[in-house]
Amino acid sequence: MVAYKTKVAERIHLPSRDRRERALAEAGYNVFNLDAEDVFVDLLTDSGTGAMSDAQWAAVMRGDESYAGSRSFDDLESAVRDVMGFSRVVPTHQGRGAENVLYGTLLSEGDVALNNTHFDTTRAHVANQGADPVDCPVEGAHDLATDEPFKGNFSLERARSVVDEVGAERVPLVISTITNNSTAGQPVSVENTRRVRDFADEIDATFVIDACRFAENAGFVRRREDEFDGAAIDEIAREQLGYADAIVMSGKKDGMANAGGFVATDDEALFERCKQRAILYEGFPTYGGMSGRDVAALAVGLREAVEEAYVADRIDGVRAFADLLEDAGVPIYTPPGGHAVYLDAGAALPHLDSDEFPGQALVCELYREGGVRGVELGSFAFPDTDRPELVRLAVPRRTYHTEHFEHVAETAATVIEKRESVAGLEITSEPENRELRHFTADLEPLSD
Ligand code: F0G
Repeated sequence: MVAYKTKVAERIHLPSRDRRERALAEAGYNVFNLDAEDVFVDLLTDSGTGAMSDAQWAAVMRGDESYAGSRSFDDLESAVRDVMGFSRVVPTHQGRGAENVLYGTLLSEGDVALNNTHFDTTRAHVANQGADPVDCPVEGAHDLATDEPFKGNFSLERARSVVDEVGAERVPLVISTITNNSTAGQPVSVENTRRVRDFADEIDATFVIDACRFAENAGFVRRREDEFDGAAIDEIAREQLGYADAIVMSGKKDGMANAGGFVATDDEALFERCKQRAILYEGFPTYGGMSGRDVAALAVGLREAVEEAYVADRIDGVRAFADLLEDAGVPIYTPPGGHAVYLDAGAALPHLDSDEFPGQALVCELYREGGVRGVELGSFAFPDTDRPELVRLAVPRRTYHTEHFEHVAETAATVIEKRESVAGLEITSEPENRELRHFTADLEPLSD
């Protein structure tokens, strides 16, 4: 049941087919280069793109812009304590700022960091410290059509084999990303989190949770983990996050805000170290790169993120979108995650080999056909890996309506109907750092 109504309207429009064709060519067949005005339904990301509530906008007006000792920071601290259970907060401009602060504090040259799956910015920050980011997804995480409840879990087996290989002294950091964005937004169980805590103790490592989508994860735990049947979302969240020594958070996801992030911990020594690094990179520790009004909106948003009606609506909404796509014959990763539906581009466009970028071809066709913007997470975004050819359709929070999702499903079905005419793509220019090439590379359709 939808738990809110619209109070502010933003006009969107579907440009003509002719305009879409031209926009796509001008963008070098890379939808990051499109003008947002040329996009009808924008599912590029759920990060900072959601609708804030009336209570958040009211808080914006009351934001305290004081450089030091801002009242809005007190509100954020209380919200983090009440909702997430941590007493110490280091605010940052967004999630990757928090990653820089915490991972820059915890990692040195030659270290190894273990994660169920590193998100791109996490991987980049670990590597930036001269450390090696190693993924430990569970077996079956990349099986696109199984019905396992917690495909986002951290594999202790893989982690142990890495430790056996490199030695525990080289592994000072273990991370669990909940939900697991780079594994189709799949959730992580509390039971798995407890085992990761024990493992971190065994090897004397710091255990960090990437909590960007902690509320969605708690929603899945309630539905799928017997022990938590009927438990309140915020209780589940505190139970799960409480196993970590520290968390990194992007306020742009389950902070329900357009900007912001933070590190939170109960460890005084770690807090002090993070605070000093944050002063260097983010700002004074009571604003950390956010304006006071952003801090205020985030403080309110965190509390809204764990409201029962909101979380139920969020998970049901993404599920309903996935059902629309499946009913239209579009192959998707199942079960759907909490913030996005991931399309199986390999199955959608089976005539294209991975070096013809089926995912990116699908992204371009979704735009050409219906003005829909998604993002490729396959061989274009992750060169030289054997990841599945996925396209992510991320759902901004409290933003689009059923009719928009029906339009996306119809658009995808039309693309699949005429799949034979969909050409592959080749890269015409890419940046030196191939790891981040999908943001800026240019492509061109292959002619046969
Ligand atoms: N960790 C995870 C799991 C994320 O998904 C993101 C961002 C970050 C850290 C970094 O946070 O953007 O506030 O700096 N994910 C966005 C996405 C960009 O589209 O999935 P940020």
